[in-house]
Amino acid sequence: MTARIQPSILSADFVNMQAAVEAVGSADAVHVDVMDNHFVPNLTFGPEMVRRVQEVSTIPLDVHLMITDVDRWAPGYAELGAFSVTFHAEATSEPVALARRLRAIGARAGLAVKPGTDVTPYLDLLPEFDQLLVMTVEPGFGGQSFMADMMPKVATVRAAVRAAGLDVWVQVDGGITVDTIVRAAEAGADTFVAGSSVYGATDAAGAIAALRAAAAGHAH
Ligand code: DX5
Ligand code: ZN
Repeated sequence: MTARIQPSILSADFVNMQAAVEAVGSADAVHVDVMDNHFVPNLTFGPEMVRRVQEVSTIPLDVHLMITDVDRWAPGYAELGAFSVTFHAEATSEPVALARRLRAIGARAGLAVKPGTDVTPYLDLLPEFDQLLVMTVEPGFGGQSFMADMMPKVATVRAAVRAAGLDVWVQVDGGITVDTIVRAAEAGADTFVAGSSVYGATDAAGAIAALRAAAAGHAH
C-alpha cells in the first residue's frame, strides 16, 4: 500500500505561505482547510488564497471544506484546479449530485464525516466518491488529540471499499503523528493529513518521510 501524506497548511505560518507550501514539496498533496465560522467555530481562507496556493505548489491540492452551503461553493474550488475537493456529509442533503458536479469539472470528489456522524448511511454512495474522510478530531482546529475510537469507523469504510472492489481512498485527519498513524493504517486508512506534526517539526521533509515510513510498515 502507498501511504499518502498530506500536510495541512492550517498549522503553517499564514504570512509565509509560499515558503510553507514549498517546504512540503516531498508530500503527496497539500491539505487546505477552508473554514467559514459557521460549519465550524473557526475561520481560515477562501477561494483567492486557494488560487494562490495552487499557483505556487508543485504538488496537488487536497481541499477540505468545513463550510455550510457547499452546493454553492464547492464547485468553484474544483474549477480553480484543486486535485480533490472534500465536503462534509453534514453540510448537504444532496451529496451525490455535488460529487457528480465535482467529478465533471475534473476534481476527485471527497466525502467527510465528523466524529459524531455514523458513516453507515453513506457506504452505499462510495462509488460516487474518490475518497472518504473519517475525521479523527472534531473539525475546526489543528493540534488536537487523535480520537482512537474512530478506528472502527475507518475499518468499516475500508471493509466496504474492499467488498465493493472500489479504489476509494480512506483518509484520516486530525492528531496524526508517527505513533497514531500506525493505528490509522492498521485500521485501513491509506491517506493521512498531518498539520502540527509536520509544521511543528524543525524539518518538515523529515517529518513527512517518517510519517510515510511508519504508515507503510503497518498497512493492511
Ligand atoms: C482540523 C483540520 C485538520 C487539521 C489537522 O479541523 O481539518 O486538517 O489541520 O491538524 P493536526 O494534524 O494538528 O491535528
Ligand atoms: Zn482538514
